Amino acid sequence: MARLKIAVVISGRGSNLQALIDSCADSSFPAGIVAVISNVPGAPGLARAERAGIRTDVIDSRGFPRRADFDAALDAGLAASGAELVCLAGFMRLLSDGFVTKWRDKIINIHPSLLPAFPGLNTHERVLQAGVRFTGCTVHFVRPEVDSGPIIVQAAVPVRGGDTPESLAARVLKAEHIIYPEAVRLIALGRVRVQGDSVAIDGAAAPDAVLVNPEP
Ligand code: GRF
Repeated sequence: MARLKIAVVISGRGSNLQALIDSCADSSFPAGIVAVISNVPGAPGLARAERAGIRTDVIDSRGFPRRADFDAALDAGLAASGAELVCLAGFMRLLSDGFVTKWRDKIINIHPSLLPAFPGLNTHERVLQAGVRFTGCTVHFVRPEVDSGPIIVQAAVPVRGGDTPESLAARVLKAEHIIYPEAVRLIALGRVRVQGDSVAIDGAAAPDAVLVNPEP
């Protein structure tokens, strides 16, 4: 079976990108990365892609005062790559409604909380302030409203006494590195369907939770 062509769009460190690179390095994984695009020149994730021999492209968002112009350049870069699925991985920009509509159900994102709780920035600080006992991470299809859209895979992660935003972020990140490749795998195998505001997996409108255990 042909592997699904994915493009990964980043702004920074690229540890989720690395998890996808590592999964795609296995020839039995049903997807392969055709391009990595960064809006930040010199983003550390670019070096990860180069080390893996993946084509990289920098579209410096500082050169585009108008959001729609940056989004048009990103759209052109993605189209040129032949990507069939776009994975946002630490991409720190809002995308215009037009762009999101064009790529509807072909663009996914990872967020470090159990959405719809705690969308937006400074997630782990807000989780600790709220005193919740569990947090986690979510891979979802992208919709125009920030960190919203049909949920594909989630992982729950415990909050521990004495956690700082940094210690919690590190624990959640381990789970992110498991669920992002898992979501891509499910999509690439054709097992994911968007039905209204939610996702069916293998035809089940209320799919079982995919359990991951980043901390045995
Ligand atoms: C991750 O926590 C991701 O959930 C969020 O931004 C962070 C990116 O980290 N959207 P990395 O660049 O993948 O290491």
